[in-house]
Amino acid sequence: MARIPQSFIDELVSRVDIVEVIDARVPLKKHGREFTACCPFHNEKTPSFTVSPSKQFYHCFGCGAHGTAVGFLMEYEHLEFPEAVRQLAEQVGMEVPVESGGESQSMRAPLYEALHNAQRFFHEQLKQSPAAVDYLKRRGVSGEIAAEFGIGFAPAAWDHLLKAIGKDAAAQKHLLDAGLILSGEGGRWRDRFRERVMFPIRDTRGRIIGFGGRVIGNEEPKYLNSPETPLFHKGRELYGLYEARQALRDIPRLLVVEGYMDVVALHQHDLRYAVATLGTATTPEHLQKLFRVTPEVVFCFDGDRAGRAAAWRALENALPEARDGRQLKFLFLPEGEDPDTLVRKEGREAFEARLKTAVPLSVFLLDSLSAQTDLSSLDGRARLVELARPHLGKLPAGVYREMLAAELARRAQVNPEKLTMLNQAARRKVPSSQDAGPGRTALTGPVRRAIALLLHRPTLAALAGNPADLADTQLRGVETLKTLLEFAQGHPHVTKAGLLEHWRDTETGEHLMKLAQAELVLPEEALESEFQAVIASVAGRRDEQRLAALLEASRQRPLASEEKAELGQLIKAGRATPGVDKP
Ligand code: GTP
Ligand code: MN
Repeated sequence: MARIPQSFIDELVSRVDIVEVIDARVPLKKHGREFTACCPFHNEKTPSFTVSPSKQFYHCFGCGAHGTAVGFLMEYEHLEFPEAVRQLAEQVGMEVPVESGGESQSMRAPLYEALHNAQRFFHEQLKQSPAAVDYLKRRGVSGEIAAEFGIGFAPAAWDHLLKAIGKDAAAQKHLLDAGLILSGEGGRWRDRFRERVMFPIRDTRGRIIGFGGRVIGNEEPKYLNSPETPLFHKGRELYGLYEARQALRDIPRLLVVEGYMDVVALHQHDLRYAVATLGTATTPEHLQKLFRVTPEVVFCFDGDRAGRAAAWRALENALPEARDGRQLKFLFLPEGEDPDTLVRKEGREAFEARLKTAVPLSVFLLDSLSAQTDLSSLDGRARLVELARPHLGKLPAGVYREMLAAELARRAQVNPEKLTMLNQAARRKVPSSQDAGPGRTALTGPVRRAIALLLHRPTLAALAGNPADLADTQLRGVETLKTLLEFAQGHPHVTKAGLLEHWRDTETGEHLMKLAQAELVLPEEALESEFQAVIASVAGRRDEQRLAALLEASRQRPLASEEKAELGQLIKAGRATPGVDKP
């Protein structure tokens, strides 16, 4: 997809009003300087969802959901970023610039076309290959479902596709970039997929971005996927997601299975919510994609040891995405069965009944850990707490984490309050005055505090002096702070949302998003002095580090005269007392 210029996004975000955007979808009530409603992202009866017009930011105190107008549209309307931008632009009468001659758009279009043509070619070939048709029939694949999924067949020769759609050098280049051909003996091109049943993989807009190919005999490898290309990234895509969204208006849940054939079989039995990863473990990116369209994700695995191990991997990747209002479950099938064989054997209803037996993530987590310890002994119960601690730490703060901790306390027979205290100590959280409750990040360290304050009120940047002065501090995040200060000083009207959108999808942006929901337990009129104090503290840390370095050097070698002078000044300044942790 063409990249939308950042300057356009900056401008758009400064023109859009988040209150209008949200109010049109979730009616808001004015409450002081903010607006509130019952949160659209989790179930609640009393409103904890607030929208701030000055920050152009929303935040739910209940489930921790938060973001900008763009982020809201993405979550609420299940849109990808460019589509959300397009809708907002339309609303304020701006036109999204078309990237003229930009690399991405013009480079990608012919790849989509090559893949599209390849799919048509494979589909034609299937009709002419009795062996392939016979294979699909034997596996019970109906003509309708094969057509809907665009299943085809790549014939056995080594240059069928090449001859059909790779006539000249330009066409061959596109086939190569799309992952459809590779260079063979003597530097000649040859088809990548030969004598395989072809499953087209579509993106969320239905465009073909790659293929999976299965042998019809017993050759190895059984499955071959497209390689990584500019269009195709295995760790991001889900087979069947486009088809599920076409078939269902509201998606009650998505069932994540392991194989292409499983997806096809389930859809054929009218279980239209099945998707598969492409032979990889489920990534956080997969989960974000899934939760954009459904509130419930069920992972389906074999009941054998390999299946359990795969489920555990999925759990570990899923923990950071287990926010309030999102349901994650695990379904284990009888050994030796996969969804394909099972649904064909027992039919739709019986398979759906199994879904009711899926275990929630919390139960799977605690059961798996409990199985490693002896809960009848004191030691065993203490060990359970130890084992669970890192996993709990990966969950986003919120009601869900609290509930899981409560369940852990029950199983370990520990007083829940004690357990919370233990966990907080482990996370080195600050004591209660700054501990801000569910969905909130505690603010420790001057850099984090400075960034949070800036997000809260970007005009504070004017008080920070020259950001370059902070540069040689070796504190974590100080680069982000510097960048942010420079930008905010150059854009005096920028809002919190403007800052967040400017760095969307970057490392800086991730850092900012985490701090964006931090609560500042401060009256508005104290912000300026607090900000000046934390900036001074960052500078103080720089001096401390310099002092420590000079002292260390003086133990190794005689100091140069300017070093001595600097050391003298640092000691006199007195600000720098090594080891003192200023708030
Ligand atoms: P069928 O034998 O066709 O029913 O396949 P399956 O989906 O039951 O196969 P299996 O459980 O062995 O594999 C599940 C998924 O893992 C497949 O759909 C592929 O995505 C992937 N996979 C399996 N075997 C291979 C392989 O040899 N190479 C690659 N790259 N992926 C594989
Ligand atoms: Mn199978």
